[in-house]
Amino acid sequence: MSTHIAAEPGAIAPRVLLPGDPLRAQWIAETYLDDATCYSTVRNMLGFTGSYRGEPVSVQGSGMGQPSLAIYATELFTEYDVTQVVRVGSCGALASSLQVRDIVLAISASTDSAMNRLRFEGLDYAPAADFLLLRAAHDAAVERDIDATVGQLMSGDLFYNDRPELAERLAEYGVVAIEMEASALYTLAAKHGARALAVCTVSDHIRTGESVSAEVRETGFGDMVEIALDAMLAVPLKGPL
Ligand code: HPA
Repeated sequence: MSTHIAAEPGAIAPRVLLPGDPLRAQWIAETYLDDATCYSTVRNMLGFTGSYRGEPVSVQGSGMGQPSLAIYATELFTEYDVTQVVRVGSCGALASSLQVRDIVLAISASTDSAMNRLRFEGLDYAPAADFLLLRAAHDAAVERDIDATVGQLMSGDLFYNDRPELAERLAEYGVVAIEMEASALYTLAAKHGARALAVCTVSDHIRTGESVSAEVRETGFGDMVEIALDAMLAVPLKGPL
């Protein structure tokens, strides 16, 4: 039992899917995992462990934003021997080549959060994905005939942003989409010697205003979860950290 996760030691698998929404965690567990059981209901931030193709896999809600994700990721890495985490979430597209429902595999994640500025005393750290997970996710997408975009994300602290002009500049510099968590996940995975990846489905286009219906969101979410699960199983586990 850690401060925010009420699981017994050993109750969380080394491979964890991390959606922001705890009810998505429950949906993923019920839809994709065999024999899933709930290991934590603390703050209703549900977590489940089951198996996928015979291998143990957990799915844990992370909440919205980097401070919330950082709490769950840190406890997973330090108190439960988790060595692979794949965030599955939504993002707002910046690149004109992206449309709603498209899937982004995040090679890196810039941020406007002060978390890493504080951590590195002003230095601009570059949080990046684990190469093996990224490659495996790309392979899994190709196998499904899904044209996933490998690109840079921006993890913003503000969902309701006062500076829309910044989106244009980020797009100019190769950032394909905005979400709110990947940068902290990549930073903490690096710190704790774990592998991490963020896989996001485009739920809205920030520059065109297009957004998906709830129904389409669900189907797109399924493709993303399957890509994430296949990628995790394709990458060997690291030994104990
Ligand atoms: N901004 C931040 N996070 C998001 C967005 C967005 O526009 N869309 C989905 N997640």
